[in-house]
Amino acid sequence: SRKSRGRLMDIHREATAFFHELLMKNAAAGHARDYLKSRGFGREMADRWALGWMPDNPRMFLDWARARKFSGRELVDSGIVKLKEDNNPKSGLFVRFQDRLMFPIRNEIGDVIAFTARQLRENKNSGKYINSPETAIYKKSRVFFALDRAKKSILNEKAALLCEGQLDAICCHESGITQAIATSGTACTADHARILKRYTSNVLLCFDADRAGLEAVEKAYRQLAPEGLGVRVVEMPAGDDPDSYLKSQGADAFRQLLANAKEFFDFKLERGKATGRFDSAAERAVALGECVEMLALMSDFAARENQINIVATHLQTSSVVLRDEIAKAKANPK
Ligand code: GTP
Ligand code: MN
Ligand code: MN
Ligand code: MN
Ligand code: MN
Repeated sequence: SRKSRGRLMDIHREATAFFHELLMKNAAAGHARDYLKSRGFGREMADRWALGWMPDNPRMFLDWARARKFSGRELVDSGIVKLKEDNNPKSGLFVRFQDRLMFPIRNEIGDVIAFTARQLRENKNSGKYINSPETAIYKKSRVFFALDRAKKSILNEKAALLCEGQLDAICCHESGITQAIATSGTACTADHARILKRYTSNVLLCFDADRAGLEAVEKAYRQLAPEGLGVRVVEMPAGDDPDSYLKSQGADAFRQLLANAKEFFDFKLERGKATGRFDSAAERAVALGECVEMLALMSDFAARENQINIVATHLQTSSVVLRDEIAKAKANPK
């Protein structure tokens, strides 16, 4: 209901302030402040993003919540807390995050609706990041981290810069690249594509330069192209992500990478060529089949014509053949 959603928004707003206060001032949070420093983040940055600290001791949060008159039910509904046994309200409350750096996730108008929380000490028994679960106010397939701050720049720059990690988006903003957003480590969905479409028709993908990032590029293309979004790919040295690249090379170098972003098919096919994947006619035929299927996903006719020419050049075929194959693929979608 509207009232219970309002309560969930209240919990998130008030908890954000509570975690932030703890991070900045609590004697037990020294290691969290050291961690921020070790990553090159100052207090102003922590203020700007309302970063926080969730204590080790769950009592601190639960006592705070009780004093604020949030019920156990409301805490569970917020996702910050879960029941020790699912569906057993008598089983006791378990705080989902412990001794973590808390990053508020906001909706498009800037209200906090969830958290993503990073480990401060490496612990293989739990994830590096833990996100809030889906709740009545948080649908992860529809939320971009930092879109509330990026939307104006996305309109002005006529492009969105989509990163993999929240920290990557934050580092971009801190470096003045304010059209950056991130999915929360989850895949880009059709809902995400429809939301972006309201702001721009160009997306620059800036995923980590590793195997997972490369796979995520192809997956993102498959969601974005059907919405008529043009997809370009920012290339970074292997092993980098926007955060590490900005820290080591600086904002000007990073802006240069953005300016050099490749059309999706140039990226895909130049990579294939560089890794020797198209050395034989048979391999080129496989690549052609893949490209045809992916070109058929594009809903923008003029943009597709451009991409057809790129693919034809790379795979030594003609655009006439490609158009023909695309028409067949569209008649027989996979
Ligand atoms: P840092 O190590 O803090 O620089 O984070 P990163 O953003 O570079 O992390 P990574 O490249 O490993 O992962 C990219 C994104 O995937 C993160 O920002 C998270 O959103 C998500 N992610 C990473 N590790 C986990 C995990 O263990 N669990 C979940 N749920 N998400 C994760
Ligand atoms: Mn990664
Ligand atoms: Mn990364
Ligand atoms: Mn990183
Ligand atoms: Mn090319």
